[in-house]
Amino acid sequence: MAQIINGKLVSQNVREAQKKETEELFQKYGKKPGLAVIIVGEDPASKVYVANKEKACIEVGFYSELYRMPESTTIEELLALIDRLNKDDKIHGILCQLPLPKHLDEEKVILAIDPNKDVDAFHPVNTGKIMIGNHSFLPCTPAGVMKLIESTGTDISGKECVVIGRSNIVGKPQAMLLLQANGTVTICHSRTKNLKEVTKRADILVVAIGKADFVTGDMIKEGAIVIDVGMNRRQDGKLTGDVDFESAEKVASYITPVPGGVGPMTITMLLQNTLTAFKQTL
Ligand code: GUN
Repeated sequence: MAQIINGKLVSQNVREAQKKETEELFQKYGKKPGLAVIIVGEDPASKVYVANKEKACIEVGFYSELYRMPESTTIEELLALIDRLNKDDKIHGILCQLPLPKHLDEEKVILAIDPNKDVDAFHPVNTGKIMIGNHSFLPCTPAGVMKLIESTGTDISGKECVVIGRSNIVGKPQAMLLLQANGTVTICHSRTKNLKEVTKRADILVVAIGKADFVTGDMIKEGAIVIDVGMNRRQDGKLTGDVDFESAEKVASYITPVPGGVGPMTITMLLQNTLTAFKQTL
C-alpha cells in the first residue's frame, strides 16, 4: 500500500517559512510583496482557484489586489490594466487566470506581462530561461510537483520519469525540471502508442492529462512514485484526479491524493515566485 504524499502539510511548512521571511523583510525595508490576480468572466473552477490564491497571499502577509472583470472585457481593457500593473511599484507579481474567454487572445496577454512580474513563468522569456536551466521563476505546478517528489527523500537522478500530458502549463515544463534533476524523461500524450508499456517503465509518473481516473493500477510499475496533477469533477460532484486512486495506491510506493496533493503546492510556489520577484526589487 502506497504512502500518501500530504501536499497540504508540505505546503504548510513552506508557507510558514515564507511568512517568516516576509515579516523579516518588512521589518528591514518597510515593504511587502504584492500580487495582482486578474480573472475575466465566470468560469466556476477559475473563481475557486483565484479566491484560494488571494486567501493564501493574505495568510503569508503579502499585499494583494484582485481584479474581477466581466466576460465582455475587451483585449484593450485587459492590456491597459496589465500595463498599469506593470508600472505599479506595489505590485511585484501579476497573474491572469487562464483560460480566458474565447474572444481574448491568451498569447497577447502573456506577452504583455513584464517578465520580471510574470510569477506564472508563462512569458517566453521565462519559459526560455527554464529551458536553458537559468530560471528567474519556476512554473508553479511543476515546481510544486518537484517539492512533493523531494519530500519522499527520492533522488531523481537516473530514474525513469514519465510525464503524461504536454501542456505549456504543466507537461512541457515538468519534463524540463525532471530533466534538470537528471531524470531520464519521456513525455506521453494523446497520440502515444502503447501508453501502458511506457508508463510501466516509470519510477516516477506525473499525470497531467485532464481525464478523470485515466491511469489505473495496471499501468503503474510496482513501487513507483505517482503524482496526480488532475482535478476533475465527477458527475456526483466529487473531485477526482487523473489517476484511479484506489487501484493505483495498491501498486505505488508514494501517491498524491486529489484534493490535498498537488493543488496546495501550486499556490505555494506562486507565493514563492512573488517573494522572489519582490526580493529582486529590494
Ligand atoms: N489556470 C490553470 N492553472 C493556472 C495557473 O497556474 N496559472 C494561471 N494563470 N492560470 C491557470
